[in-house]
Amino acid sequence: MLTIPRFPALATGLALLGPLAAGAQSAAPATLTVQVNKPGAAVNKNMYGLFFEDINFAADGGLYPELVKNKSFEINPGLIGWKALQGGANLDAYAVRNEQGISPANSHYLRLTTRASAGGEAGIQNEGFRGMGVKAGASYNLSLYARRGPGSIAGLTAVLVGEKGEVLAQAPVTGFDEGWQKYTAVLTPNATQHKAHLKLVVNGQGTVDLDVISLFPQDTWNKRPNGLRTDLVQLLKDMKPGFLRFPGGCIVEGRTLSERYQWKETIGDVASRQPLINRWNMEFGHRSTPDYYQSFGLGFFEYFQLAEDIGAEPLPILNVGMACQFNSGELAPMGSASTKGGPTAPAAPGTGDPSLDIFIQDALDLIEFANGPATSPWGAKRVAMGHPAPFNLKMIGVGNEQWGPQYLERYEPFAKAVKAKYPSIDLVSSAGPSPDGELFDKASKRLGELKAEYVDEHYYAKPEWFRQNVGRYDKYARTGPKIFAGEYAAQSVAIASPTNKNTWDCAISEAAFMTGLERNADVVGMASYAPLFAHVDAWQWTPDMIWFDNLNSYGSPSYYVQKMYALNKGTNVLPVTMPAGATNGTDNLFASAVADAPTGEVVVKLVNYSSSPRPVSINLAGAKGLGKTGRAQTMASADLQTQNSLQEPQKLAPQESTFAVKGSTLTYTLAPNSFTVLRVAAKK
Ligand code: AHR
Repeated sequence: MLTIPRFPALATGLALLGPLAAGAQSAAPATLTVQVNKPGAAVNKNMYGLFFEDINFAADGGLYPELVKNKSFEINPGLIGWKALQGGANLDAYAVRNEQGISPANSHYLRLTTRASAGGEAGIQNEGFRGMGVKAGASYNLSLYARRGPGSIAGLTAVLVGEKGEVLAQAPVTGFDEGWQKYTAVLTPNATQHKAHLKLVVNGQGTVDLDVISLFPQDTWNKRPNGLRTDLVQLLKDMKPGFLRFPGGCIVEGRTLSERYQWKETIGDVASRQPLINRWNMEFGHRSTPDYYQSFGLGFFEYFQLAEDIGAEPLPILNVGMACQFNSGELAPMGSASTKGGPTAPAAPGTGDPSLDIFIQDALDLIEFANGPATSPWGAKRVAMGHPAPFNLKMIGVGNEQWGPQYLERYEPFAKAVKAKYPSIDLVSSAGPSPDGELFDKASKRLGELKAEYVDEHYYAKPEWFRQNVGRYDKYARTGPKIFAGEYAAQSVAIASPTNKNTWDCAISEAAFMTGLERNADVVGMASYAPLFAHVDAWQWTPDMIWFDNLNSYGSPSYYVQKMYALNKGTNVLPVTMPAGATNGTDNLFASAVADAPTGEVVVKLVNYSSSPRPVSINLAGAKGLGKTGRAQTMASADLQTQNSLQEPQKLAPQESTFAVKGSTLTYTLAPNSFTVLRVAAKK
């Protein structure tokens, strides 16, 4: 169980109010002033981004659409995901073996032995990731390696089977030989099913060896082989995210150092990538998923490619020689980095304790992999994978959610070595899991002294914490590292409680808090909600921004809040004065504003966390003229418990409208429990 010390009536669908809302305007409008003529700090163009971690089946079973679980039999126990065909009277034995495998990197395979015909099908079946989602008429590439043994087995029949045992598609795979060879077929199901499975029915009697059994949709993002699931990438792209942080999260750290995420093991030939236990598999007793492994089909090359596809800056997070401090907290010895002023050539992997030198070298090599020329050893690997142009990596994270002196003493030589070789790479450092307290204060101070470009702060707390802390960054020093609000999400019950829900109460509270991020864009450089994805049948952690099953997906209210900020981030902060005697958040009214230079618009964000409509009057001071019509986007639900779902994916989503503008003041009525973005053209 992860124990994290930091964490200790109206109907929905109500008409969105606007400038002329009837019958609700008895209260005097709250008067705010936006100083259009006093643009302040620039908003980082990459301010709102994405936190990706392989938790909740986010990668295998999610974004990475391989349908076969444990396709290479390399995980332990080797038959996870597989079982003998029911009624397989002809199947004598099936077992994972490792003599004369396909390659040393892929040594395990499945041997099937069938006996003379006794009726029934001989073979095996794969369950997929809580089933296999397949679409009628779509094409799925089946591939496998086979080696014929003694007997007469020269082929098999691949069958996609529905939940009731019905055949959805089938194809013969024939011509097995005595050496390993790759065979392919295409399966085109005749019906859509969320929980299909794959049967491999062996034809003949004797022995056959099988390995790297893959069933992959042809319809992937950009139609790439080994590409990603289209609906999920589309949801990400629609947000126009500024950055993509990957691969986590605690998964970077591993429960032990040997279970840490090692990016070098995740590139190159997909079939040769060694799977690794997922540290979220047994983390929570209440959501145990012992079959949770990382195949690394979605590896570092694919992460960089995804970032490029969705227009986000890549932000890889690297292990800093520390296993997860909520688990073993294992530490890599300091190595030469601390004593001799820089890392020496690291010991070969697997030769004793990995010292910090190895972790530093991994970071240096990663930068070369991402940005180096084809003539460099690691740049050549990127080119060989099909991306001659650099990925233009500009920042890396040094450690995930680390804390204490052990982190700071490792951060320092790590940062020094990276900066010595790549001075223009920005470093993201960690302030630990708690957004306050002694460890947080010490880390923030020291990381400032060490001139980290970003300090990553995390907050998972009740919705009220978000509303109460809207002024958090008003108090921060205006010099020193920028803040990366790298993980946050309002928790409806308690941190990581399995009963947390993605309610409107959580999302509107995040929207309120984010007015404070935006007002302080000179301090806060990046922000991302966490975690990003969750499979409805296989999650470990809730709440999450996007939920999916094997075929469909939807954004939670928090997704739409993040999207509204990202699409309306503007270019410069505009000072906002709240009604007389009030500060941001007084009486549950929250506001921030930005100028958007490319469109010449003023963008005002307003949160009304109240069950009453609230008229506002917004004076755009210094504007020499406003457009006659403004645009409004609003999310509102009188019921703070409103959630989206697979059945009602857009129950709560932004609604667009226009409103008339007269003079230099915007008059508008905010709906009860609403988040509103107003945009109006303004001449300065
Ligand atoms: O977002 C879930 C987890 O919360 C992350 O893996 C970790 O960094 C934090 O504790």
